Amino acid sequence: MEIAYRPIRIALLGAGSVGSQVARLLIENRDELAQRVGADLELVGIAVRNLDSARNGNLPKALLTLDAEALIKAADIVIELIGGIEPAKSYITLALNSGADVITANKALIAAHGTELFDLAEQLGAQLYFEAAVGGAIPIIRPLRESLAGDKVNKVMGIVNGTTNFILDRMASTGASFEDALAEAQQLGYAEADPTADVEGYDAASKAAILASLAFHTEMPVENVYREGISQVTALQIETAREAGYSVKLLAICERVPAIDGQPEGIVARVHPTLIPDDHPLAAVRGAYNAVFIEAESAGRLMFYGAGAGGPETASAVLGDLVGAAKRHLAGGPGIADSVHANLDILPVQAISTRFQITLQVNDLPGVLASVATVFAQHGVSVETVDQNAAGENTGALLTIMTHEAGEGELEAVVEDLRGNAAVQKVNSVIRVEGI
Ligand code: HSE
Repeated sequence: MEIAYRPIRIALLGAGSVGSQVARLLIENRDELAQRVGADLELVGIAVRNLDSARNGNLPKALLTLDAEALIKAADIVIELIGGIEPAKSYITLALNSGADVITANKALIAAHGTELFDLAEQLGAQLYFEAAVGGAIPIIRPLRESLAGDKVNKVMGIVNGTTNFILDRMASTGASFEDALAEAQQLGYAEADPTADVEGYDAASKAAILASLAFHTEMPVENVYREGISQVTALQIETAREAGYSVKLLAICERVPAIDGQPEGIVARVHPTLIPDDHPLAAVRGAYNAVFIEAESAGRLMFYGAGAGGPETASAVLGDLVGAAKRHLAGGPGIADSVHANLDILPVQAISTRFQITLQVNDLPGVLASVATVFAQHGVSVETVDQNAAGENTGALLTIMTHEAGEGELEAVVEDLRGNAAVQKVNSVIRVEGI
């Protein structure tokens, strides 16, 4: 391929686990990338917070700078791998205003301020790429933005947080408690010292907001994503699920809710521990892997699977964006704009219907089963199966109840009444069931 005379100047912001790998690949594969793009990709600098930090050890010292703003202003393409809201947002804004295209892996920023940044990019004729923001190495943004742009996506279900998938997988395979599995995840470097963003579902909620916005062409504010984490999931709950043929996964679920009773079609995004049948493809996603399962009207069911994090893996997604951005830079033109034209109503989680598994500790006396069944019947919730086990000496019985599809509101009413029922000692768990 003919190589353009002037190199394309690349500025890298951040030299952490992903940034240092992006720099390495840009340097090591420079000739090959030039052939693919048709221009030399020149890494003109790497903005870091500390010039002596250990991670920067293998990077050429001459490229390191503390002056991110000067670096941004001198670049054609800026790669933001700092993470968090600030200073990443100000740097991206400066880059777009300086005429650069931007690549970022920053899910928190895209989920919280994506619309503002996309609008700015569109006004300026610039591009904002973010393949690495969801699912690390897994191509999922481009398939939703481009490959499925002519289809109608009805549902997206993703395991989009590797830390929680690792923890739930360890709990299932070893019988460990949440606390012990979390400690192991921390020792192995999957979980942070403060694991809140992962285990309480905030990271997955940001990714759900991004996936829903792309899938349904509708801006989904992250605050509207219903969120429950996994810190309350117990070893008993996982064992009960396993015995019934299910796995517990933290899923990010984005779905269309059809128009009903004069209400227009809407969308719901939610993140919560979910039971999925062991024969569902998402149940086979083990360890810290990620996967996104899509149901589209014409394409049918698709699954995208791979490493959701990691330096080289995430760097692969960043480099893919870089090649696309660099080619567009050479060819000119506005490139892909994000469309939120559908502007569907964003509905609360109460708008969905799903199946539930409820586990209860009850008195083992005549009439108890009938009284529990009556509570479900009173709220119009149909029971599919009931299993009963002895709960141990003098403690009554454990009931595991699987419902047919029921509304969230009806189920909440059932649970409230069960808690007030004299025969019910304790509602141990309530968990939604998907993928049947
Ligand atoms: N903390 C994330 C995870 C990393 O555990 O999947 C990538 O967003």
